[in-house]
Amino acid sequence: MERKIVKNNLTILFILFLVIGLSGCVTSVPPAKTPGPAKEPPKELATSTVDAKSLFEEKCSICHSSERPKSKRKTYDEWEATVTRMKDVNGCPITDEEAKIIIDYLAKHYGK
Ligand code: HEC
Repeated sequence: MERKIVKNNLTILFILFLVIGLSGCVTSVPPAKTPGPAKEPPKELATSTVDAKSLFEEKCSICHSSERPKSKRKTYDEWEATVTRMKDVNGCPITDEEAKIIIDYLAKHYGK
């Protein structure tokens, strides 16, 4: 008698694991796939112009007003030198990647 009950319990447990495992697979795969490729490309397009401006306004107005760079007209190389100096010499807290985004933005909008 006792043995039978133990066996039955194990069978039920086994089936439970199977059901949970299978339903886990079925429900977790499609939601992970659909939002990804559908949303990412437009997001990237929208942020590439918006983010450069807000990044510049945010990071380049910490020590002086952002009017300081905005009042200048420089070539790409000159902006690269200025932003690199702000970063490496004056201590502007930006990464190399952010510096590049800001240099591109400045050269495009405040170039000469
Ligand atoms: C940590 C403080 C700090 C931050 C942040 C900072 N600057 Fe400056 N900036 C300075 C100082 C100090 C000077 C004056 C000395 C100099 O020119 O290096 C200056 C001067 C300038 C000048 C005038 C001199 C020139 O070369 O034309 C420009 C333009 C400029 N900064 C642009 C920027 C830009 C663009 C950013 C954002 C990437 C930025 N700054 C962020 C400290 C900072």
